[in-house]
Amino acid sequence: MTYTLDWQAYTKLARKTVAEGAVLLQNDGVLPLQPASTVAVFGRNQFNYYKSGTGSGGMVNVTNVVSPLDMLREDVTLNADVLKAYENWLEDHPFDQGEGWAAEPWSQEEMPLDATLVQQAALDSDVALIMIGRTAGEDRDNTADPGSYFLTETEQEMLGLVTTHFKQTVVVLNVGNIIDMRWVEETAPSAVLYAWQGGMEGGTGLSDLLLGRVSPSGKLPDTIVRSLDDYPSTPHFGHADRALYQEDIYVGYRYFETFAPEAVLYPFGYGLSYTSFDLTTDVTTSADAWTVTATVTNTGQTSGKEVVQGYLEKPQGQLGNPTRQLVTFGKTEELAPGEQESLTLVVPFASFASYDDSGVTGHKSSYVIEPGTYQLYLGTDVRSAVPVASHSVETLDVTDVLTENMAPVTAFERIKPQATETGYTVTYEATPLRTIDPEQRRQQERPVERTQTEDAGWKLRDVKEEQVTLETFLDQLTDADLAAIVRGEGMNSPRVTPGTAGAFGGVTAELEALGIPAGCCADGPSGIRMDIGTKAFSLPNGTLLASTFNTTLIADLFEMTGLELRKNEIDTLLGPGMNLHRHPLNGRNFEYFSEDSYLTGKMAVAQLDGMHRVGVTGTLKHFSANNQEFHRHDLDSIVSERALRELYLKGFEMAVKDGKAYSIMTTYGAVNGIWTAGLYDQNTRILRDEWGFDGIVMTDWWAKINAEGTEANRQQTATMVRSQNDLYMVVGEPGTNPFEDDTLTALADGTLRRSELLRSAANICQFLLRSPIMDRVMGTATSIEVLGAPVEEEALEDQAVSHQRLVSGDAFPLTDVATTTGSSHVFAVTAEETGMYQVTLTARSNAGELAQMPVTLFANNMPVATFTFNGTNGEWVSQTKDVFVFNPHNYLKLYFALGGLELKELTFTLAESFHMKNG
Ligand code: BGC
Repeated sequence: MTYTLDWQAYTKLARKTVAEGAVLLQNDGVLPLQPASTVAVFGRNQFNYYKSGTGSGGMVNVTNVVSPLDMLREDVTLNADVLKAYENWLEDHPFDQGEGWAAEPWSQEEMPLDATLVQQAALDSDVALIMIGRTAGEDRDNTADPGSYFLTETEQEMLGLVTTHFKQTVVVLNVGNIIDMRWVEETAPSAVLYAWQGGMEGGTGLSDLLLGRVSPSGKLPDTIVRSLDDYPSTPHFGHADRALYQEDIYVGYRYFETFAPEAVLYPFGYGLSYTSFDLTTDVTTSADAWTVTATVTNTGQTSGKEVVQGYLEKPQGQLGNPTRQLVTFGKTEELAPGEQESLTLVVPFASFASYDDSGVTGHKSSYVIEPGTYQLYLGTDVRSAVPVASHSVETLDVTDVLTENMAPVTAFERIKPQATETGYTVTYEATPLRTIDPEQRRQQERPVERTQTEDAGWKLRDVKEEQVTLETFLDQLTDADLAAIVRGEGMNSPRVTPGTAGAFGGVTAELEALGIPAGCCADGPSGIRMDIGTKAFSLPNGTLLASTFNTTLIADLFEMTGLELRKNEIDTLLGPGMNLHRHPLNGRNFEYFSEDSYLTGKMAVAQLDGMHRVGVTGTLKHFSANNQEFHRHDLDSIVSERALRELYLKGFEMAVKDGKAYSIMTTYGAVNGIWTAGLYDQNTRILRDEWGFDGIVMTDWWAKINAEGTEANRQQTATMVRSQNDLYMVVGEPGTNPFEDDTLTALADGTLRRSELLRSAANICQFLLRSPIMDRVMGTATSIEVLGAPVEEEALEDQAVSHQRLVSGDAFPLTDVATTTGSSHVFAVTAEETGMYQVTLTARSNAGELAQMPVTLFANNMPVATFTFNGTNGEWVSQTKDVFVFNPHNYLKLYFALGGLELKELTFTLAESFHMKNG
């Protein structure tokens, strides 16, 4: 069997997704732009479209990001004077990338506008288009400042001037998450479009919308409100040590629709179209569900799609509930004017249940349906949805009897609604605290001990061929093998696809000898990150995907990504990112889907469905409550069990139960005092025992672990294994225990059982057994044929990389390296020690002394030092720079911006050793 990845089809699907995910918030008829009209485009973002946010989720190397400007100019006339003004200005104001990790500015300096330029442009053009861009990302939350969440003064002046002089102004926001929108009321532009960050096809999809080739059908996955202060989580966001989830289950629209509808500028689920729709509904009630037939008719002049959304209002009961909760949605196909489609949406009564974490209903730690009236609302956003059905429950029904897990230990108050004459007001109640001893309970649940058996020669392939059970196979492993198998190797492990985040499974010679291959994982979530520079498809970001409300489209798109993973020999993508948009300033919101857990779960299931069709998977991350970047290694999220169950764990639960997920990543920080990498109640009791998960759990990269009450560090792998977080990601060389983890010492003193290690080893091997890597071991691998890829797509060619060790004082000879303009040379090196190195490059040239020949050293595709040589009259000259070698495994690349140098060698001298294990 052969899989075929049709690159053109991939591109088309991404383009379609971009167009379906953009959300149109205002339009007085200016959009779509008329063909052959003259458009004056303002804002420097027109020249630097953000394909994504920053950090691991944004580091996809692409051949090309399609510029919206280039696409537009094919159909409309761009005002040449305005264009020229920007081009001239940009010569002295190049794009500022910042230096290094988490250093790219949230926005770029904007060109101040000259009033006469704008005035003249208004006379010469039909429409103004303003493009505003923002980025943020990993380790870099947005801030409540101009240039980040707020517009800068120059941007406001641009908006003011342009909207004053132009009759028609369209504002396009190329952003990763929502930004302040008060300027819409102040400047009243004719149209406002959230284009989000659309990956490499961002420009094509956006132009399809602007030019009317596609009618917008994206809907807001977040509520947009007037002020940041309106968010109940604002006082508790951005602190160093702890995040208090006082708003409890009242996140996003759940809060605003219940308590503060007047704060909302654009409601959850909202988005305009170029056409209009009529919606009629018919609901039938069975014993356990409502079945809604929602008939959508296109009543306008142009084709389009519509999203129908169903919201539940539960009675307040004893527990208290938000007045709206998304319980179903569906999207029509493209409907021509006059055309009609009936969607069938089923709302099981099981969705009436709420989690009782206090016992106030008499059923602590259970999902219960309280007596009262349950009301279903249907519409095209949360605010305009109208009541279509109601169901009366007479007596309390317990739907799921569970146990207390992950409850808080810090006393705090949480929000609870209190009815008023006109609605609900915020009151507070004490959050129920932990009543059990999790450590004692864990002790009682430890697996029965097993002893090592003789090496009977069994290999993992014998398990695959059902010659032997996995248990018997694993019983042969030595304790040292077991301690090594729970260590992942990376980044840039030489065992797997170059430039990827990690390898796991067969990460030592001994494990390899047992026939255990190394599985490969790569970031994620919006395309494949390969730090050696290999090109990959950059996908639209999470927020955009969610805004499509189109699960079929997302599944089809991720089937293509699945094929691309297979082509690159990667078994799991490190995504989807599933944390909630609890606060708009979270830097990684672009990677995540929504403020709503149901939409989040549906999107994750769609992605997994797509990837599973072709035998690869995704790694759900970050499990759980990773909703802030600042101090993420040490942040303790203090959150009620109910909010965890109904919100922060919900999407994961759906992805496990409905999406059949088999790989999960825990977070850097803690939930209720226990770092999630060692959180037994999360990683075993909820995930596996309750939800039936049978896959691997991995830590986030270089995460800390703690046993409750101890300081978190990177050594406590015994706690990690006991919790059934199977893999510590990542160490340089797993066989050498570089972080001095405590697995073997805990085994020796009996605090860790061999059976606990065997349990994780089994999870890891099970993963490998169902992954493409095992097919390669068995010689049954499916080949991948790639059709129609652009010739320059290096992604699709195999890269030969040779590995060498880096020892302090060593010189890499460079005499054979070609240094012609634009060329580069790559080394794959494994550093004996990580730390600060003095790197010396020795070169000579006969060029004149004013010649400048820059050589840039890239580590894992990030520029780390530039050596600029002048002519040396034929003498060897050395230059030294400090370079931080962070990873044990690295791809180092020398890039020659201008030819003319002859190279001798590159030497590395360790200046300061860096021991991650202490950090
Ligand atoms: C991020 C993860 C990512 C990992 C590997 C971490 O810093 O939090 O989301 O998958 O690095 O790059």
